[in-house]
Amino acid sequence: MSSIIKSDYLVIGSGIAGLSFALKIADHGSVIILSKGSASESNTSYAQGGIASVTMDSDNIQKHIDDTLIAGAGLCHQDAVKSALSEAPERIKDLVKWGVKFTKTDDGDFDLAKEGGHSEHRILHAADMTGAEIQRALLEKAKTHPNIAIYENHLAIDLITEHHVLGNLQSAFNICFGAYVLCEIDNCVIPFQANYTVIATGGASKVFLHSTNPEIATGDGVAMAYRAWVRIANMEFVQFHPTSLYNPGKRSFLISEALRGFGGQLINGDNERFMPKYDERAELAPRDIVARGIDAEMKKRREDCVFLDMRHLNAEEVKSRFPNIYKYCKESINIDISKDPIPVVPAAHYFCGGIMTSLNGQTSMQNLFSIGEAAHTGLHGANRLASNSLMEGLAFSHNAAMKVINKRPRNFGSVIIPHWDESGIVDVKEWVLVRHNLKEIQNIMWDYVGIVRSKKQLNRARRRVHVIYQEIEDYYKKSKISGDLVELRNLAAIAFLIITSGLRRNESRGLHYMTDYPDKSDKFLKDTII
Ligand code: FAD
Ligand code: SIN
Repeated sequence: MSSIIKSDYLVIGSGIAGLSFALKIADHGSVIILSKGSASESNTSYAQGGIASVTMDSDNIQKHIDDTLIAGAGLCHQDAVKSALSEAPERIKDLVKWGVKFTKTDDGDFDLAKEGGHSEHRILHAADMTGAEIQRALLEKAKTHPNIAIYENHLAIDLITEHHVLGNLQSAFNICFGAYVLCEIDNCVIPFQANYTVIATGGASKVFLHSTNPEIATGDGVAMAYRAWVRIANMEFVQFHPTSLYNPGKRSFLISEALRGFGGQLINGDNERFMPKYDERAELAPRDIVARGIDAEMKKRREDCVFLDMRHLNAEEVKSRFPNIYKYCKESINIDISKDPIPVVPAAHYFCGGIMTSLNGQTSMQNLFSIGEAAHTGLHGANRLASNSLMEGLAFSHNAAMKVINKRPRNFGSVIIPHWDESGIVDVKEWVLVRHNLKEIQNIMWDYVGIVRSKKQLNRARRRVHVIYQEIEDYYKKSKISGDLVELRNLAAIAFLIITSGLRRNESRGLHYMTDYPDKSDKFLKDTII
């Protein structure tokens, strides 16, 4: 039986949100960061385009706020938008202080890119590997801080709440004491106890068959919070990135929006540029519009993909601005992006919804915070503006750290946390069931809950996911815990949350497009809260 591991702060997740929170708080107490794989494997590491912030006199914060509100289609929380974007220039200074090296012009200014929905060039980037550079710098910094301990291959299973410790805590209600964590090295479950627990587990796009995300994006934090009765918001708003590389059967790879910002044009199989037909902003319209335009074009022409065309641009500049994408396309499908059209399709990319938080990352449960993609802060509304996500992670982790630095934890006396109960559990190892159920959920979500939805499709998806959900719960109760099983159970919960939220919104707004309700309705000018 593994003994309890204690810290002042338990941070679940080692992406931009978790690491930046840890760096801000570490001088004030002991911090444990959990990462379910290696600490460098996160969505953050794969971010390409960059991070949005006003840094030039020719731009201003109000314009960034306005662009964000337009993309968010009426559902952004004005206070969250104002808080994050006004502070963004300060947060960029934090990154630079921690050692992040952004690409600069010959004059020493930040080299600023433009992406869909932005009225100005304001995206700071490190070539086309911005996320990898941020992850590198923050992780290096965290590893050298004496108060930070990083536990790799430690997967949080469930939050520890007063339900687990009720025997000795009659007066407590709605409180988080830490998390039960599976150590995948020794295959044992360890209780991690903390004064404050922070969910920074990232997104959940792996619930869809085609996604730009790495394998870690299984929505664990949101699912854990949901099981603990924490409030979740706006799960219907899933962002599909318009351009992931079309390379059937291979791991997905993003073709950054920055290529369109650089002048790339979308063409169909007959070499016709089609986006101007769908929106006057053409390739640089907000993502929901471009993704739907591509989807409509592919369906109409019965084609498996469309193409991103960079051939009219300066070839040397294309190669030097996008070295990683150039190399990947050359090696994986043997095309030269400066000479050949790039085959692309939309893929699930980002969750605008998540665990509901205040501007300080506080959730509806005491001592539990959430930051980054796992959280719903209200910044993105019904559709995220490109490159606002890395900034969201930074901005709200700063706010959360400032909140807890000045907060003395409530004293519950001696809390006794029970060990993980494995009585009645057998090692049945039904891997086929796990694999099969995973594929089934991903297919259902892609086919019925994708870019374009209908009531009929959502109801069909709900019926099917419900059966799978029950099967998984049944199996979970009887079986020895494993990482795959925990993730599958979480993905089923995420699927349920997306479908349920989608069925409550009888309108089309931002990323949620319903064929039977094609217009916005003021009746739904509110968050969907579960
Ligand atoms: P992540 O970076 O995903 O980190 C999550 C962490 O949680 C990981 O360390 C993981 O191991 C850990 N974790 C998860 N579950 C558990 C568990 N159960 N137990 C323990 N640990 C767990 N956004 C932008 O703003 N600009 C971009 O250019 C951009 N490009 C992108 C490109 C790609 C290909 C992708 C996939 C996303 C991109 N995004 C971009 C979105 C952005 O990268 C993410 O939203 C953001 O990095 C999320 O950061 P995070 O810290 O919340 O989570
Ligand atoms: C991209 O580079 O296209 C991704 C940017 C983002 O998701 O914000």
